[in-house]
Amino acid sequence: MEYRFLGRSGLKVSALSFGSWVTFGEQVDTDLAYDQMKTAYDAGVNFFDNAEGYENGVSETIMGEVIQKAGWKRSDLVLSTKIFWGGDGPNDQGLSFKHIKEGTEASLKRMQTSYVDLLFCHRPDVFTPIEETVWAMDQMIREGKALYWGTSEWSADQIRKAYDFARQEHLRPPLMEQPQYNMFHRDRVEREYMSLYEDIGLGTTIWSPLASGLLTGKYNNGIPEGSRLDLKKYGWLRELLLETEEGRAKLEKVKKLAPVAEGLGITMPQMALAWCLKNKNVSTVITGASSVKQVEQNMSALDVVDKLDDEVMMMIEKILDNKPDAEQDWRR
Ligand SMILES: NC(=O)c1ccc[n+]([C@@H]2O[C@H](COP(=O)([O-])OP(=O)(O)OC[C@H]3O[C@@H](n4cnc5c(N)ncnc54)[C@H](OP(=O)(O)O)[C@@H]3O)[C@@H](O)[C@H]2O)c1
Repeated sequence: MEYRFLGRSGLKVSALSFGSWVTFGEQVDTDLAYDQMKTAYDAGVNFFDNAEGYENGVSETIMGEVIQKAGWKRSDLVLSTKIFWGGDGPNDQGLSFKHIKEGTEASLKRMQTSYVDLLFCHRPDVFTPIEETVWAMDQMIREGKALYWGTSEWSADQIRKAYDFARQEHLRPPLMEQPQYNMFHRDRVEREYMSLYEDIGLGTTIWSPLASGLLTGKYNNGIPEGSRLDLKKYGWLRELLLETEEGRAKLEKVKKLAPVAEGLGITMPQMALAWCLKNKNVSTVITGASSVKQVEQNMSALDVVDKLDDEVMMMIEKILDNKPDAEQDWRR
C-alpha cells in the first residue's frame, strides 16, 4: 500500500481507502462487512469512510461492530463520518452548531469510538452562516471528537471563505474536501480546486472512482441483476447514469476504453482506479464494493498504476475528450 499525506497535514492515509455508501445495511450485512473490511485492512487500507446519512446510521453501526470484532488498534485506523442528513426533525439536518454537535455525538456512539479522525460537512448548507459551521467544527476538535475537519461537495469559494474566517479567528481551518472524481467527473478536482491545493494545502478524499460501477464495463450490455443500478431504491441513480443522453454517451466511451485496458492486460476497474491514483492532488481514492472479490480486485489497482504511462494517458484522454480547460495563458 502507498500512504499519502492528507493535504498539508502530518496525517497519512492509504492511497486506496474503503467506504460504505449504498452497500452497508443495504447489500452488505455485518458478516460480509467484516470480510470486506478485513480484506481491505490486510491490503494496507487504513482509512474507512462513513456518514450519519448512510442507511440512517446503520452503516456506522455496522462499521463500529466490525472494528470491535476485528480488535484493530484505534491508532492504526483513520475513521471518518460526515454530518448533514441526520434525520427528519427540523434540527436534524444541515450544518447548524446544534446539529453538528448532536449529529457527531450520535455518530461516535454508533461507531463505538470516542473520536473520528476526519469529520466532514457532507454538503454546504445554504441556511447556516459559514461562520457558525466553522465555529462548530472547531469546537468538535477542541472537545476531542474529531482531529481534522473538511467539506464534501463545497465550491472552491465556500471552502476559501471557511478557511479565511478560521484563520482570522484563530480557529481550525478545513483540511480536506470529499468530491466526486472519476474519468467522467473531473472539473472540480482538476480545475476549480487547483489554487486551493497550493494556497491552503487542501487534501482530497475522492468518491465514486468507478462512477458507481459504470466504469467497470458491467453495464455495457444491460443491467446485471443485483448490481447498484438494479436496486429499486437507487432508481434515480440508474436514470441519471444510464437513461439520459449524457449517460448513454458515457457508456459508449466505456466501450471504447475496454480495448485500452485489454491491451495493457489489466481490468477496467483497475484502469479506472489507477487513473484516479495518477492524480497527485488526490490524497486517497475511496473505493466501494458489494463483495469481497470486488475489494480484492480494487486493491490490485495500485499494482498497475505504472502501466498508465504518458502514451496510455493520452489514449484515454482522446477517448474521454472531457479534459477541463486550464487557466488561459495570455502571454505572448
Ligand atoms: N461525500 C459524498 O457525497 C459521497 C458520495 C458517494 C460516495 N461516497 C463515499 O465514497 C465511497 C465510494 O463511492 P462509490 O461506492 O460510489 O464508488 P464506486 O467505485 O464508483 O462504486 C462502487 C460500486 O461499484 C461496483 N463495483 C466496485 N468494484 C467493482 C468491481 N471490481 N467489479 C465490478 N463492480 C464493482 C459495486 O456495486 P455493485 O456490485 O452493487 O454493482 C460497488 O458498490 C462510498 O462508499 C462512500 O464512502 C461519498
